[in-house]
This record gives sequence, C-alpha cells and structure tokens, in this order.
Amino acid sequence: MSDARLTPLEDGKGPIVLQGAMEMEVAPFIKRLKGAELNVYGDFSFWRGTFGTRPLIISKTGIGTAAAGAATALACALYQPSLIVNQGTAGGYGDLAVGDVVVGSALYNANARYLGRDGLRFMELGALEHESVAAMDFPDVPPLLETDERLRNILKAFLKKSGTSYRTGIIASSDQWNEAPEQIKCIREKTGALCEEMEAAAVWMTAKRFHVPCTFVRIISNNNERGLSFDASVCETLSRILQNFLGL
Ligand code: 5AD
Repeated sequence: MSDARLTPLEDGKGPIVLQGAMEMEVAPFIKRLKGAELNVYGDFSFWRGTFGTRPLIISKTGIGTAAAGAATALACALYQPSLIVNQGTAGGYGDLAVGDVVVGSALYNANARYLGRDGLRFMELGALEHESVAAMDFPDVPPLLETDERLRNILKAFLKKSGTSYRTGIIASSDQWNEAPEQIKCIREKTGALCEEMEAAAVWMTAKRFHVPCTFVRIISNNNERGLSFDASVCETLSRILQNFLGL
C-alpha cells in the first residue's frame, strides 16, 4: 500500500477519532474543526464536527494510561469510529531532535513489568489470561505491540507526499517520565525505542478490544538524553502536518 490518495475513511462508515492527551495537543485541531459540538462525559471531552470534508471527533484523553484507555473505550462505544489517530508530543531518545515526527511501527507497554527472582522482565497483558503466570517465560525486553500496517502505510505515504520527513520505529509507552540521560540510553539500547510517551499502549490495547484500527504519530517535544527541554510549539506544527491527512 503506497497510494496517498487512498483515504482511511473510504472503506469505513464511522468517523475518524483524533486523540490528544493535553489541551495543547488538541487545541490546534479544535480551532480548525467546523461546526464543532462539544460532548462531555465526566471529565472526558469530545468535539464533533467536520475537518475538510470529513466527519471528525476530537478527543482530549487526559494524560497517562488510565485516562487514555478510558477515553478510547468511551470513543469506541459512543461513536463507533472507523479508525483512531492517536497523536501528540513525545520525549525523543538518541539523536531525535525537537520537531522530528515519529510514526509508531510498534509500541511497548513499559508498565507491564514482572519482577522475577532473576530480575526485571516484561509481560504482554493481553496474553496473560489463559496462561499460568508461573509457566510463562517472560522476556527481558518488552514484547512489541505492532501497529496497524495498512493505516501506518497510508500515513507514511501521506507524509512522504507532503514533504514531511519522519522516522518510523518503536514508541515506549508508560506512566513514566525519564529525565536521566544514562537511564534513557540504557532503555534505548535495550529496546530500540525512538521516543517515550504516556498513552499509546493503553490506546492500542483498548481499541483492540473494539476491533478499531489505530495509527500512532508523535512529534518530539523534548529530548532528555540530549538535554533538550519541552517545546509546546511543536503541537501546532503537528496539527499543520496532519490537517490535510484528516481532511482528505
Ligand atoms: N516522557 C513521557 N511523556 C512525555 N510526553 C512528552 N514528553 C514526554 C516524555 N519525555 C507526553 C506524554 C504525556 C505528557 C506529559 O506529555 O504522552 O501526555
């Protein structure tokens, strides 16, 4: 699949749900949404409208795995989306610079830790239920959650066509913020992750239960391995990049 003209909605009936965790990550999209109507459930807000020519629902999920999972379940149950675009900021690892775009080929849930007698191991929570924990041979690197290939290829083809350079790779996801360069270097060398954030794995696991495909795109807002501090202006940059993708 390499045709950027093929739009995700062409074979789906429901709207696109566009997610961002923080106000700064959804505000640039909301201001471009036409005919926006706000639906609020508890502390979860959804703006329904059109973007370009297509129906779009913007979801402010809140920060972290619990909020992101709950917001995703609500979105799937309430709106039956054909797909979810999960986007936002992330902390870059290695040579990633502020403003770089990352398309997630896979994620891992860095929260799913098994502290065995022989040290730290990682679990895939979705695979646990039918196994006895004692019988499982947990890996010492986190199992990867592969992202939807078709959607990822559509997104990559769009970015390429619009002249946006991007990296494709692994996103580390957990309720964790790493500030120490040595620690980040260890994580990067062990897992191959390009960046870290706090929602993607929860969104992946929840959307899977509803059979809703998701794509994951991040813009690097900081790089604590390189001492680059958080720059909120990247949220507007990512919104500009994605607006034509959503409005196709
Ligand atoms: N580590 C963890 N989360 C980060 N975020 C941006 N940079 C980082 C980082 N270095 C994102 C998370 C969360 C919010 C705090 O910002 O996904 O939504």
